[in-house]
This record gives sequence, C-alpha cells and structure tokens, in this order.
Amino acid sequence: MIKKCVDIEFEEIFGIINDAAQAYHGVIPEDAWHEPYMSRDELSSEIEAGVEFWGAYVDERLVGVMGVQYKQDVTLIRHAYVLTSERRNGIGTRLLTHLERETSKPILIGTWAEASWAIEFYKKNGYRLISGKERGMLLDKYWFISDVQADASVVLADARWVRGDR
Ligand SMILES: CC(C)(COP(=O)(O)OP(=O)(O)OC[C@H]1O[C@@H](n2cnc3c(N)ncnc32)[C@H](O)[C@@H]1OP(=O)(O)O)[C@@H](O)C(=O)NCCC(=O)NCCS
Repeated sequence: MIKKCVDIEFEEIFGIINDAAQAYHGVIPEDAWHEPYMSRDELSSEIEAGVEFWGAYVDERLVGVMGVQYKQDVTLIRHAYVLTSERRNGIGTRLLTHLERETSKPILIGTWAEASWAIEFYKKNGYRLISGKERGMLLDKYWFISDVQADASVVLADARWVRGDR
C-alpha cells in the first residue's frame, strides 16, 4: 500500500533513509559520505523546503519512502529509499508509479553517478539519462545541492521531458 507519510512517521522515515543509504558507503565520493547519511536536521529542512514523503507499507510496516518536490515547471523525485532487506521486490517501482500519477508535469530525478543500481532502476522505469551541458544546467536550475554533489550526480528525465511537454 502506498500513502502519504504523516508527521509522526518522522523517525521511521529517518531510519529507512539511513538504512538504505548504506548502499552509498564506499561508492559515492568519500567527502560526501557521513553517518548518518541524512541527519534529522537535514531531513527537517528538506520537508520544510517542500519535499513531500510517500511511504510503501507491507503489513502496515513502512518499508520504503520516496519524496516528491514540485519545482517551477517540473516535478522532482527526491530521496528514494527502500529498506535493504526489502529490495528488488517491486516496492521502489510501486512508489515511483504512484508518484508519476500524482503529477502532470515532466519528472526529473538526480542521483549519484556511481549509484549504478539506482540508474538501472530508473532506466527500467522508462527514464533517460541527460548528458552534456543540459545536465549541469538542470542541476543548477532545480536542485539546491553542493558543488561536490552536483559534480558527482546524474540527471534522469521521464518521457514528458524528453518529448518537450512543458
Ligand atoms: C533504488 C531503490 C529505491 C530501488 O528500489 P527497489 O524496491 O529495490 O526497486 P524495484 O524492486 O522496484 O526495482 C528493481 C529494479 O531496479 C534495478 N535494480 C535494483 N537494484 C539493483 C542492483 N543492485 N543492481 C542492478 N539493478 C538494480 C533493476 O532494474 C531491478 O529490476 P530486476 O530486479 O528485474 O533486475 C533501492 O535500490 C534503494 O533504496 N537503493 C539505495 C538508495 C538509492 O540508491 N536510492 C536512489 C536515490 S535517487
């Protein structure tokens, strides 16, 4: 079951993000890795900045979260995390499909260039990698991330963006 997370789930969301983010350890640039990967303050700031978290529940237990942020003419998918123990069971796909139905705007997603599994996940769901100058331009325009993170990130776009529906 997919539903919007509520305030009292803050600690569970925090737990899922930091369990799932262990996948980045030793993969992303060393200076971008810290524990917890996302602090409570950072998570609060993201929510205050408009990231809306949706959750996937199995037997009423939260097992995955995905954030959505509406920015100007696009929708960003932010912070997609499925518990390590629950991966490759279709949970991420169900979350993504649900969020795709919630918006009519083109969807953009940023992730670490070294997170090959995440890139595979989005490609399998129909997203295309954006390369060259457009990648940097999009990161500048729609994301508020450090230069270290931007340099080590890729952008993926859905079919609406690729077709130019905007
Ligand atoms: C990315 C993530 C959210 C996907 O969630 P999920 O529930 O495992 O994904 P699904 O089961 O719906 O989809 C699985 C598909 O994704 C891709 N995929 C997932 N894990 C993969 C891996 N380790 N290696 C290669 N491809 C992988 C494959 O295409 C896979 O399909 P297959 O199992 O038929 O080969 C999850 O792996 C995760 O939380 N990873 C750690 C955090 C992260 O990288 N988040 C992305 C931030 S933008």
